[in-house]
Amino acid sequence: MDTKDLPATSRTWFVKALPTGPLIPNEHYELRTVPLIAPTAGQILVKITFVPSHPPPLPLPADQKTGSHIAVDPTNINYISASPALAGERLYIAQRLVGESVLAGAAGVVVASCHDGFAVGDRVGGTWGWSEHVLLDVGKMKLPWAEPTRIPQDVDTEAWLTLGLPAMTAYFALMKLAGATAENCRTMVVSAAAGATGSTVVQLAKNVLGIERVIALAGSDEKCRFCREVLKADVALNYKDPDFKAQFVAATPDYVDIYYDNVGPPILPLAISRIAYKGKVVVCGAIAAYQSATDIAAIPMSSYMTICYQQVAVLGFIFTAWVEHIPEAARMLTEYAMAGKIVPVKHVVDTTIEEAHMGLNILFAGQNLGRLILRLAEKKD
Ligand SMILES: NC(=O)c1ccc[n+]([C@@H]2O[C@H](COP(=O)([O-])OP(=O)(O)OC[C@H]3O[C@@H](n4cnc5c(N)ncnc54)[C@H](OP(=O)(O)O)[C@@H]3O)[C@@H](O)[C@H]2O)c1
Repeated sequence: MDTKDLPATSRTWFVKALPTGPLIPNEHYELRTVPLIAPTAGQILVKITFVPSHPPPLPLPADQKTGSHIAVDPTNINYISASPALAGERLYIAQRLVGESVLAGAAGVVVASCHDGFAVGDRVGGTWGWSEHVLLDVGKMKLPWAEPTRIPQDVDTEAWLTLGLPAMTAYFALMKLAGATAENCRTMVVSAAAGATGSTVVQLAKNVLGIERVIALAGSDEKCRFCREVLKADVALNYKDPDFKAQFVAATPDYVDIYYDNVGPPILPLAISRIAYKGKVVVCGAIAAYQSATDIAAIPMSSYMTICYQQVAVLGFIFTAWVEHIPEAARMLTEYAMAGKIVPVKHVVDTTIEEAHMGLNILFAGQNLGRLILRLAEKKD
């Protein structure tokens, strides 16, 4: 392997301090330049970048440019949370410590390989971090999801990311865990409905399962219009409206068979107060509480006993428990997309490695519509 063209360094984001309140990017993360070591036996070097060579097979605009891609997920903040509720063994993965690199999804291209299974030019994805390059010990990565997954030749990288973790989460949590059908669920409510996970949940519920009444909750009138017109939700409510609570009650005269929760309190206790007898709550996430451990503790679960009186099933979902079913989810989501039943919604932001952390702020400010993907500009040497 000729290593003379490989870069000698890579810029990578590291955890600088654990936030106890709102995330302040430059206080909690820092960008460092680290030496890059050429791969040895069994290793590959991935540049977090890709050059598309095929038009997308999915109904996505073919506007790809050369660039690096980083997927930003709200839970990235949980990996470094100092909240006691999330720390230690109660978190679903080992918490990132100060001095460790930031953990996040990414996609890129193999630029050097000492592994028979991967060739230079292969496009791959995995959970690596916010970095320009990553050296992978194939088959020996500590985290199973850090093992490189080859992106199929005929699938565009942005489409692959869009139908990735959040869309698969929607598929597993709604269709498998909750076992939703048009027969057992007449009314369903989805929060963060215009986001990556929520937009897939709405479309699976309405366009695949044929659920009679799908109610989308989102943070602006524009997003609500999108939920109705593009995702085909029957009703969409702006949770920031002053009379949101009254609107929610009026929209659920027959109560709610499934509440798919992406945000946590204060919407969660309201949704539970409207849950149907033997209804289900899918606990997928609580983005409203990720930035402050005290926020979630300060909100009274006023409807708590409804869970008891109405015999509600509260179903916790975590993606890592479903990894062995990823091929099924990928196949089914692609099929639904090809059939026009779901429109994969992506929100691509052109940025630089220096600004990678800003992606989290975009999510927390609700500035994204669908899956947020950061497309990093090429480094100018
Ligand atoms: N359990 C799992 O394995 C798993 C896997 C994937 C995702 N998740 C969870 O699913 C949720 C959505 O994740 P995603 O990746 O699909 O992100 P996303 O929905 O694309 O982006 C987050 C959205 O959350 C909304 N939001 C932000 N702050 C909020 C607040 N205080 N109250 C209500 N809504 C708020 C914003 O939309 P608005 O403009 O509508 O406010 C924002 O666009 C997160 O809680 C995430 O942790 C869980």
